[in-house]
Amino acid sequence: MKSRTHSAAGPLTGADGRLPDGSAGDDPLARADALLHDGRYEEAAEHYRSARERDPQDWRAVTGYNRAIRRIVPRWHFEMMHDHERALQYEAAIKQVVTADHLVLDVGTGSGMLALMAARVGAERVVACEGQRVVAETAMRIVDGAGYAGQVDVVPKMSTDLVVPGDLPRRADVLITETVDCGLLGEGILVSLSHAREHLLTDQAIIVPGRARVLAQLVESRALHQKNTVGELYGFDLSGFNELASLEYFDTRLRRHEHRVLSAPFEVFRFDFHRDGPEPRHATLPVVPTTAGTGHAVVFWFELELVPGIVVTNAPDHPTTHWKQAVQCLPQPVAVDPRDPLVVDVRHDGLRICFTGITKEHEA
Ligand SMILES: C[S@@+](CC[C@H](N)C(=O)[O-])C[C@H]1O[C@@H](n2cnc3c(N)ncnc32)[C@H](O)[C@@H]1O
Repeated sequence: MKSRTHSAAGPLTGADGRLPDGSAGDDPLARADALLHDGRYEEAAEHYRSARERDPQDWRAVTGYNRAIRRIVPRWHFEMMHDHERALQYEAAIKQVVTADHLVLDVGTGSGMLALMAARVGAERVVACEGQRVVAETAMRIVDGAGYAGQVDVVPKMSTDLVVPGDLPRRADVLITETVDCGLLGEGILVSLSHAREHLLTDQAIIVPGRARVLAQLVESRALHQKNTVGELYGFDLSGFNELASLEYFDTRLRRHEHRVLSAPFEVFRFDFHRDGPEPRHATLPVVPTTAGTGHAVVFWFELELVPGIVVTNAPDHPTTHWKQAVQCLPQPVAVDPRDPLVVDVRHDGLRICFTGITKEHEA
């Protein structure tokens, strides 16, 4: 999500890997470099991988492969797999709902972990889809290695491209998915579940997670404010750069930044994954500050109810969650006081939650 990298100068070749004079030159990695430059990371990774297999000492192939694969498979995949709380809660929920006559659909299988859990508790069959081809191929090898290839089919497709019958023999009885980012909606869960309910699931299908709610808190933090704002520095007025500031949230651990909370947690949106679609929503929420201060940012997180009684959360008081929290900086600091209730304006467009305004109730 966040990275500070220097990209090397662009390649001297075109997208087809040819030099400006139209020749291919004698550089077998020119094509891979061109694909990487064009953002065709899966193909670039494939070319670099072949070159690396031909010569494991070819440092350009090794570094090229590293750059391409990190773009396809961000590092959070590893952190996520090591999030024991997340894994144990999902396993407990899967044990509770999956039975021997169930066809289970795992949307966004990644390593295949949740599909394997469903197979281990005895699901008749599991179809595990994964939209990133290189990840899907890896999951196939993992499933095979675990001895579940006869029970789990990995399909290298986005769930929205699956067909029944075909990719699934019939509509599935259970859908499991962990396709949520720190702000809940960023991986497109509302779109994929709405499609799955219409095309891939039985009418009575159980969806894990079943529900979620998003909570937020207003915070004072100069450190967070500085992540989206600049003023006079080193004798220069750099505030013109604020035109490039954004209302996009980012993931971070709140406790790593000096801050004061200015409100109690307040509920932003609730989602019922058996019913809700990606249609945009808008809410105006009354919030009473608990202390006087300057609001610089909103921190928000989710409570994901897998099944009733089993919840995973990335709340700030959960120090080990791999998701961290979502933080959105406010465009302007807001002076707040407990005697002056606020109205918080928030929207989502099906993919991103955005706090679009904080006003005093008496001015609203
Ligand atoms: C957050 S990871 C979770 C992986 C795995 N389910 C787990 O819990 O360890 C989500 C994965 O789902 C994939 N993905 C997201 N939405 C998808 C969709 N609608 N269909 C197929 N794959 C999807 C992403 O490429 C990513 O590999």
